[in-house]
Amino acid sequence: MADISFIINKLTETGSLTRDEIIPLLENLTPEIRQTLAERASSIAREHYGNKVFVRGLIEFTNYCKNDCYYCGIRCGNKNAERYRLSKEEIVGCASCGYDLGFRTIVLQGGEDAYYKDELMVDIIRAIKAAHPDCAVTLSIGEKSYESYKAFFDAGADRYLLRHETADFDHYAKLHPANLSAENRQQCLYNLKKIGFQTGAGFMVGSPYQTYENIADDLLFLKKLDPEMVGIGPFIPHKDTVFADFKAGGLELTLALLSIIRLMLPTVLLPATTALGTIAPNGRELGILAGANVVMPNLSPVGVRKKYALYDNKICTGEEAAECMNCLKNRISNIGYEIVTDRGDNIRYMQGSTKEGR
Ligand code: 5AD
Ligand code: FES
Repeated sequence: MADISFIINKLTETGSLTRDEIIPLLENLTPEIRQTLAERASSIAREHYGNKVFVRGLIEFTNYCKNDCYYCGIRCGNKNAERYRLSKEEIVGCASCGYDLGFRTIVLQGGEDAYYKDELMVDIIRAIKAAHPDCAVTLSIGEKSYESYKAFFDAGADRYLLRHETADFDHYAKLHPANLSAENRQQCLYNLKKIGFQTGAGFMVGSPYQTYENIADDLLFLKKLDPEMVGIGPFIPHKDTVFADFKAGGLELTLALLSIIRLMLPTVLLPATTALGTIAPNGRELGILAGANVVMPNLSPVGVRKKYALYDNKICTGEEAAECMNCLKNRISNIGYEIVTDRGDNIRYMQGSTKEGR
């Protein structure tokens, strides 16, 4: 226990741990230790961002995907998935609805769908930015070439989310078919950073075959990449995937990792994810209390939400879905935080940014 206190103090004071410190910390997570981590993490989040929680309006615009990731419900091999695509007009319309609700970040997320050629994505990005110049546009559309990323950035996209999934090459190969590689994925992240995107990486907690060593390497990878955003959430099995019979990732471990990530990357934008809200009814609130500072309610048309099922039992896909924004506002204010509707850039980024905010 003395050792663990030393490790937590070092993490708080320096934001850095070695692999040999992270592993015992993860192996010895007691309720008291998780509480200490959460207190320190939420206090450092408050130092930088006060009691603000940023919102991002998520538009899941296509569930077609050319990839076959073993964990994902919209993998191309899932013949039971009912596929859909939104048109440019529907996407831009959805973004405008979000704007009217107060969203100043629109996240366009989809499978890797060749229907949306670069030119079409550029068109969509330009249309949203032209209609709402004060909105940030975040993309989450997978692995693309340097040139494609550059075209999206030049069209006005501000941020890009691409979870690295797992930093360990062997573990990566257990979660993905052979045509996908951790090496390419990590290269994509470095390309995005080089182009100037505010970049988000991340991983699933409790994914099949994941070890504490893997998680330690994920944390070290994040520290090295130094992204503006990090997305983590529990793995949740989907019935039509290779991993249907694996168990979901744990709430406690996910919360502890949110705290550790906050302490390692103090100004990072860190969502309490929908997956966290799916494994526990108050998961997102607990995530905020553990150091997260972003929520990403769904803005997709209610009619398609059930179809964008990366995992089973996803919340906010039924009748209640239109009420997400109000529901979240109440939930967040009940724990003493406040949802704010500005762009919510990483403060580190804002310090170095131009007047236009890019
Ligand atoms: N459980 C939890 N998260 C998942 N994702 C994909 N499938 C699942 C699942 N079964 C995550 C991946 C991906 C992100 C968009 O969703 O980490 O990068
Ligand atoms: Fe969707 Fe509460 S956030 S119903």
